[in-house]
Amino acid sequence: MPRPHEGLDPPGRQQDGPFVAKCPPGKYAHCQCQRSANYPFCDGTHREGDVKPVKVILEEERTVAWCACGKSGDMPYCDGSHARS
Ligand code: FES
Repeated sequence: MPRPHEGLDPPGRQQDGPFVAKCPPGKYAHCQCQRSANYPFCDGTHREGDVKPVKVILEEERTVAWCACGKSGDMPYCDGSHARS
């Protein structure tokens, strides 16, 4: 079964701003351990630690600004914190 974010080409690492993408409906897991090779999406690497991903269900297609700096106070979404530090 294809994952909803396949083909969105995420950066795979932290960056100074959000990863903005038009996302089809489905389940998403936002990486919180910041070690995913598919960052900002979870790739399962957290299994080695205590930090778990934030899970989101999109009921319909939506353009999402996923936090990719790791500093948002509204995970998994960008809240502008990347520009304030
Ligand atoms: S990318 Fe904007 S708060 Fe993290």
